[in-house]
Amino acid sequence: MERPKAVAYSPLQARRRPYSRVREQTMTAQLEAHELMFTSGAYVREFHPEVDANPFGADYAKKRTAIVSAVEGTDKRVLDVGGGMGRMSIPLSERHFVTLSDLSIQMLELASPWVSERLELRQANARSLPFPDESFDYVLCIDVLPHVVQPEEALLEAQRVLRPGGTLLVDVTNSNPLWTLAYPRYLGRKPQRWVQVWRAGGVLPEWRQRVKHHRRTALMRMLADARFQVRSIRGFGPRFCPKWHLAVAMKPL
Ligand SMILES: C[S@@+](CC[C@H](N)C(=O)[O-])C[C@H]1O[C@@H](n2cnc3c(N)ncnc32)[C@H](O)[C@@H]1O
Repeated sequence: MERPKAVAYSPLQARRRPYSRVREQTMTAQLEAHELMFTSGAYVREFHPEVDANPFGADYAKKRTAIVSAVEGTDKRVLDVGGGMGRMSIPLSERHFVTLSDLSIQMLELASPWVSERLELRQANARSLPFPDESFDYVLCIDVLPHVVQPEEALLEAQRVLRPGGTLLVDVTNSNPLWTLAYPRYLGRKPQRWVQVWRAGGVLPEWRQRVKHHRRTALMRMLADARFQVRSIRGFGPRFCPKWHLAVAMKPL
């Protein structure tokens, strides 16, 4: 009979393994809980960017115009990651071939009346895109990174699916909270709440578990880490402190 092979025993490993497994399981559970907000359809009730009651309505509209006109030429292959109800995708599909992807089926359903041979819908997680390498000329990732637990993963995926020389349009909400001063309706009337919002980098207390804002420098760093070359960064919102930083970045040839 064959003797069983000796297995090296390390008390340190014995202690570490279950710990890292528990940590991994906890992180997965947190991620699923976070994403449930979108997969359950709850977020559809929250996101109304251009209605009159939205304090950022006019700035959302300006940002959209800038993004749509930044996708140059015609007949480009465009991927809109976390594209929601198609605010960018629908106008872009007049000139280009657009794949509107989002984690939320309910969001995509709002865009379904506009489906055509130039606009297709795909449910997809920004962290792991179901598209081949180098299959798009442009990738858009607008108002999405603040909602993604690990934005670096989403940027690496954008990098993977872009062709060399392709362009990424991506933004973050500024974690310097001074911009909130330009939107009194966002801050509300309670000074105690203002302090909470400022301490959280401009995030409302009820969103703190789910949203993260970033500085311009953090966006630049994440883009460099994902091997993008930044072509331009533009602020939207108040001049003294932009609410959003929008970057146009290229995947090197
Ligand atoms: C603030 S909305 C922005 C929608 C759209 N980009 C726009 O600018 O109108 C954020 C979108 O990101 C989507 N989202 C959140 N997490 C995501 C993820 N991990 N993968 C793909 N989409 C995600 C949400 O479902 C939602 O539609």
